Amino acid sequence: MRVGILGTGDVGKALGKGFVTLGDDVKMGSREAKNEKALAWAREMGAKASVGTFAEAAAFGEIVVLATLGVANESALKLAGPENLRGKVVIDTTNPLDFTAGVPPKLAVTGNDSGGERVQRLLLDAHVVKAFNTVGNAFMFRPSFPGGPPDMFFCGNNDDAKQKVVAILRDFGWGIVDVGGIESSRYLEAMCMVWVLSGIHTNSWTHAFKLLKK
Ligand SMILES: NC(=O)c1ccc[n+]([C@@H]2O[C@H](COP(=O)([O-])OP(=O)(O)OC[C@H]3O[C@@H](n4cnc5c(N)ncnc54)[C@H](OP(=O)(O)O)[C@@H]3O)[C@@H](O)[C@H]2O)c1
Repeated sequence: MRVGILGTGDVGKALGKGFVTLGDDVKMGSREAKNEKALAWAREMGAKASVGTFAEAAAFGEIVVLATLGVANESALKLAGPENLRGKVVIDTTNPLDFTAGVPPKLAVTGNDSGGERVQRLLLDAHVVKAFNTVGNAFMFRPSFPGGPPDMFFCGNNDDAKQKVVAILRDFGWGIVDVGGIESSRYLEAMCMVWVLSGIHTNSWTHAFKLLKK
């Protein structure tokens, strides 16, 4: 499979590495065609990895991962070009975190809206699935925890798109919890804050969510 990654940060690098490890071809996109971080990542990954602009990565991917600064999603997606994402599954890993008042950050979008819904509104012809936003990048691929695999909570409007993301999540080593349509991003983005605040209060960043059932 060809995967486009929009973002050169830790999430883009971790998920990109996961896809390369699984044998996929991955293009990492950035605001510049030859971003230093993307080039270093691609050199480390080898022949399956390449770099380009946001638009080139969006056009390349059969599936595309959005891993940009959450409050810059609109600008990144304009550069990516919604026409390059038409009909595609877009995995939205982002959180609209606002650090202007320091740490902990606040959610820049709350109430009856969310970053995930905004991404879907910007990409009306794509199938946005929110996933990977409730855990740190260190655990995104094949997470190993004493209590067994953690769960990835995800949401989106299109069932076929969600099934594709479920297959990816399983390959990446996750249990899965479907929490409904893209409007549930309101709660997944708040859940990210629970993950962040727990990390701040314990000064430990080795945690992940699991839904216990019987
Ligand atoms: N870090 C984590 O462990 C983690 C975990 C879960 C979810 N998340 C979420 O995942 C997303 C990515 O996080 P990250 O830490 O990997 O990276 P990040 O530092 O939040 O974002 C880096 C990316 O955002 C792009 N960007 C920054 N400002 C921009 C602007 N004004 N216009 C367009 N693009 C812009 C950068 O473009 P260039 O490549 O051109 O510099 C870069 O590709 C965030 O939304 C974050 O909340 C993070």
